Amino acid sequence: MCANSLKGLLLGFPEYREPAQRLARAAGLDFAEVEVHRFPDGESRIRLPEHLPERVFICRSLDQPNEKLVELILAASTARELGVGKIGLVAPYLSYMRQDKAFHPGEAVSQQIVGNLLATLFDALITVDPHLHRVHRMGDAVPVPIALALSATGAMSDYLGNKLENPMLVGPDEESEQWVSAIAQHNQLEFHVASKLRLGDIDVRVSLPDADYRGRHIVLVDDVISTGRTIESAIIGLKPYQPASITVMATHALFAGDALARLKNAGADDIWSSDSISHPTNRIGLAAVLAPALTDLWGS
Ligand code: R5P
Repeated sequence: MCANSLKGLLLGFPEYREPAQRLARAAGLDFAEVEVHRFPDGESRIRLPEHLPERVFICRSLDQPNEKLVELILAASTARELGVGKIGLVAPYLSYMRQDKAFHPGEAVSQQIVGNLLATLFDALITVDPHLHRVHRMGDAVPVPIALALSATGAMSDYLGNKLENPMLVGPDEESEQWVSAIAQHNQLEFHVASKLRLGDIDVRVSLPDADYRGRHIVLVDDVISTGRTIESAIIGLKPYQPASITVMATHALFAGDALARLKNAGADDIWSSDSISHPTNRIGLAAVLAPALTDLWGS
């Protein structure tokens, strides 16, 4: 039996508790936590509140996705068992979106497989700046009835505000142009876009376009920082121009391995990330970006 709740409920997981609670507050939803117990053999036991309303959001950012996806299957399936009618997934970072084709015979098309799996579990998806390549519509990658891809660029623009004097924005590769140009337009700033050659997971070469970087406050903007090699290469390229400062601003702070240390060693003066993934560099809250989408999703 479902409890009646006019407000609706957002279920969070322990590793993303604070951002999920902020989101629930901003959206006027109740918050409850999914209880996760990890057995010594690596299996997970999931426990949900016994009484759930008709409509529930499950909020989990899907960095480190392999374990989290299994737990998400358990949580969504249990919510259904408990009688929930509509379940929305709020995944501020949505993984497995890059591999949208088999580049070599026999390779799994992970986007399609994970997308189809999520569509069997959820009625709606809300995410932020998904890393889509050849598939452009969120609903084609994750075929749920309502699939929303929001952007962090508004929140990034607001955060940047007047923190730096006449900053110059730089995107490290062609793909970053969409984000860097949106922020530049919003704040009426000069921006440039570099080109990138990726030869392997950790072999990345960024070539900067000609511009007068000397003495400027540079803000490098990207959607994802994973190994950090893209931004590291851009910083190394910028340093000889003697900019006044180099700040890094990114949506998804994956920071695999020694990525954070590498960026600091290369000369990043500041690193600002959104809270799409919990990380010490989080400065930009996404609750205000996500909340209206949750509120409006299924009407009243
Ligand atoms: C690339 O297409 C993305 O926009 C990022 O530039 C990339 O994911 C960053 O990866 P890494 O930190 O491993 O260089």
